[in-house]
Amino acid sequence: LRTAVLISGRGSNMAALLSAARDPAYPAEIALVLSNRADAAGLERAAAAGVPTAVVESRGFRGDRAGFEAAMQAELARHGIGLVALAGFMRVLTPAFVEHWAGRLVNIHPSLLPAFPGLETHERALAAGVRLHGCTVHLVSAGVDEGPILAQAAVPVLPGDTPAALAARVLAEEHRIYPAALAWLAAGRVRVEAGRALVTEAAA
Ligand code: GRF
Repeated sequence: LRTAVLISGRGSNMAALLSAARDPAYPAEIALVLSNRADAAGLERAAAAGVPTAVVESRGFRGDRAGFEAAMQAELARHGIGLVALAGFMRVLTPAFVEHWAGRLVNIHPSLLPAFPGLETHERALAAGVRLHGCTVHLVSAGVDEGPILAQAAVPVLPGDTPAALAARVLAEEHRIYPAALAWLAAGRVRVEAGRALVTEAAA
């Protein structure tokens, strides 16, 4: 299934997806890496891996979200994309875009949702004194960091943790669960019932 990875920055989750997709048995083909920033470091990584890249600069649209998304949709269509994976993509998508990609749009978030949606999740986890923190892969629905959960991984919060130390521990788990969850979706193993995602067994 031709899949686009949408990024805004470093692209370490994108790199994890690319490396999983190198296995010919992996059900998603990363056919495009699309960034809303020309300076996203992940673009170079994708190009070095031989993956087509595109930039639709959100800045150029000055708050015209519909115009920005129309330009993105055109790129996605041009590359024959059937599945979209957000990986550190720092723009909120409109309900129209989310609706268009319903069930085919997935995101990774660095917290155990529904705890800590939004930004600075590691700082907030430390401030809240939680003992467990982690990451979530979810289908995207209209709210920010909302939608049926596909996969989660938890990590301990350790005494003396800094946001950076905690982020690194979580990121290692992101790189593990995102390729797995994307594979379930690409293989058609995900069903949504009453707002919850059910993952069916792999066909033998
Ligand atoms: C990750 O922590 C991801 O969960 C969050 O933004 C960060 C992106 O990192 N949405 P990278 O660009 O994948 O390295």
